[in-house]
Amino acid sequence: MEWDVLLNPYKQSVEELKVKLKGVREQYIIENKHSPIEFVTGRVKPVASILDKMKRKNISLDDIEAEIQDIAGIRIMCQFVDDIGTVINMLKKRKDLEVIEERDYVNHKKPSGYRSFHVVISYPVQTVDGEKKILVEIQIRTLAMNFWATIEHSLNYKYAGAIPRNIQQRLQRAAEAAFRLDEEMSIIKGEIQEAQKLFEQKEQR
Ligand code: GTP
Ligand code: MG
Repeated sequence: MEWDVLLNPYKQSVEELKVKLKGVREQYIIENKHSPIEFVTGRVKPVASILDKMKRKNISLDDIEAEIQDIAGIRIMCQFVDDIGTVINMLKKRKDLEVIEERDYVNHKKPSGYRSFHVVISYPVQTVDGEKKILVEIQIRTLAMNFWATIEHSLNYKYAGAIPRNIQQRLQRAAEAAFRLDEEMSIIKGEIQEAQKLFEQKEQR
């Protein structure tokens, strides 16, 4: 099987979505508004990881396009927790994609301590054989959530998924600290916006 052929529309989708979402950020910035998007990353799942997942979840080659939702993956990082909701609403309003699934690990954290909002979208990509609808998993998270997930992911890799109990506990405490950091930052954001509103009112008088 030619992986390059199978994965090409996924690669195309990831590249297009990165450009489009970076464009959203740019638009906020030129309009002098707070951008709910801080930065965007994307990747196509490496073949070895696809094979791993097929084995783990007992998925046949014919079913991977329907059953593996994260062959194409996009990550959107936000400064503040409420930016996550803004991004989700923005995605739902777009005419060039369809949100088909939502998983809220922001309000319902995983036992590991993981927090993020996941949406699965159907994205129409134009190929030489016509339009093809591709599933893309978009993970939306704050910078603090991303910091935690990145560290936890490295540790999982290091310990091959069997993180020692004491380190797991430390990670859970770190997740709580990240949560509090997000809360503190939200309060500061509120303060800034309140100050701006007061300022505007004064200007109008
Ligand atoms: P998968 O079989 O892994 O796809 O699980 P799932 O179908 O339940 O999907 P889920 O919504 O849990 O998303 C899986 C993806 O979220 C992973 O590929 C990771 O990128 C991320 N993720 C989920 N849980 C964790 C976690 O505990 N730690 C970290 N670092 N990332 C996680
Ligand atoms: Mg998944």
